[in-house]
Order: sequence, then C-alpha cells, then structure tokens
Amino acid sequence: MGKVGNSRSVQSNQAGIHPDLDACVRKHLKGGFRRPIAEHTARAFDELVQRIAPSSYGLILDSGCGVGESTLALAQQYPNHWVIGVDQSAKRLAKNAEISEANSPLWQNENALLLRADCVDLWRLARRAGWQLDKHFLLYPNPWPKKRHLHRRWHGHPVFADFLALGGDMELRSNWPTYLQEMQRALELAGRTPSAMEPMSVSEDTALTPFERKYHCSGQALYRLCCTLDG
Ligand SMILES: C[S@@+](CC[C@H](N)C(=O)[O-])C[C@H]1O[C@@H](n2cnc3c(N)ncnc32)[C@H](O)[C@@H]1O
Repeated sequence: MGKVGNSRSVQSNQAGIHPDLDACVRKHLKGGFRRPIAEHTARAFDELVQRIAPSSYGLILDSGCGVGESTLALAQQYPNHWVIGVDQSAKRLAKNAEISEANSPLWQNENALLLRADCVDLWRLARRAGWQLDKHFLLYPNPWPKKRHLHRRWHGHPVFADFLALGGDMELRSNWPTYLQEMQRALELAGRTPSAMEPMSVSEDTALTPFERKYHCSGQALYRLCCTLDG
C-alpha cells in the first residue's frame, strides 16, 4: 500500500458480482467448517474473556482493525461498551498498543481493547461462548479482488455463518463497490435485510481509519453497507 493520497483504486479481473457467489454462500450457510482453532488465538480469546468478564458492558467488535485507530475512536463514542479491535498483525497493532509477537496479545485502555488474533478463529470461539454483539465493524477488509479469491472475502469464506451468528448491527466500509454488492447479496441469501449500499462523504479529519483517510486523499469513492444481523 502506498502513501496517503497516492493509492490506486482496486484492480480486479472480476466484472460485477462473482458468478459462484450464490452457490458458495449457500454451501457455507449449511455449516461444516471444521478447521482447527490456532492455539495462539485460543489463548488470546481466553485472556480477553478474563479481562472483560463479568461486566454489564455491551460488546462491539472492530474486526481487522489494523493499527486500532477506529477502535480507540469508537471506544470514546460508546463509553458503555467494550470495543474490541482485532487484527492478525502484531506490527500494525504495535503502532497504538504494547503488543508484539513475544508479549501478551492483549492491550487495554479503559473500554478499548486491542487483540492480536485471527478473526476466522476468534469469531468461532466467540460464537461457541454465546457472544451477541451490539455492533460489528468491518472497515476496509482486504478486498481479495482476484476472481479466484472469492473464498477469502468475508462473505465468501466458510466462517460467514459464524460471523452472522454473532449478530449486532454490522457496518462494512470499502473502496471496492463489488465487495459491498456481494456482501449485500450474501446477507439476503442468509435471510437478512441489508441497507442499500451508500456512498460516504469523509474528510481527512473525519476519516475513521488510516485506510479510509488514504483512499479519500487519493480521490477514491468510499461506500458503506449496514445490516442488522440478529434474527
Ligand atoms: C486493508 S487493512 C484495513 C485496516 C483498518 N481497518 C483500516 O481501515 O485502516 C485490513 C486489515 O485486516 C487484517 N486482517 C486480514 N485478515 C485478517 C484475519 N483473518 N484476522 C485478523 N485480521 C485480519 C489485516 O492484518 C489488516 O490490518
């Protein structure tokens, strides 16, 4: 990824919604995803659970939070929630948190928590533990724009059923409209009622994340999709 203001828009060899999306989502909604949970994420989840329980606070996940800038801002906006930013990259998290490969995967500042973990495993552990989120942010997930990478996008991944089960009001932001159109279709297939995809107006100062700022400063259009996942 380039500097602020110098970022290319997403290039893809896929025109429009992936032709295999419906079949892929239907298959994953039937369940059967059994990949073993990585030990480091299981340990990170245990540490997180011990830190936040018992508490009357609601739960907000900021999945793929990068450096955690959005997590810290959301924690101020929602002072009666635990706002948990999760990213697999210790290097990114270390920009705002005392997290490294060698140290604890968890960092806390009041109601903001940053956790180094793989969302694929963390979402499954949270589902097994019966978590119900109030909000779930997916801010500029990796687009995986190559046609053959459909299964790496969150709506094309076998963990999609677990993501849905965690509930809450989801907000997805991206600079690749196809990602949102596919998520919208996947949510409909799962019986949810997503909002229409809407363009977002941000400024350098109001950007919630570094990627949002970078894309905005590069003149790219940004979009948001919201959906209540419960029920
Ligand atoms: C494009 S960056 C966006 C970061 C941040 N949300 C922002 O907007 O600045 C995507 C982030 O998702 C993280 N990520 C990708 N797959 C992940 C996974 N399975 N579990 C946790 N984090 C993941 C990457 O490490 C990266 O920091």
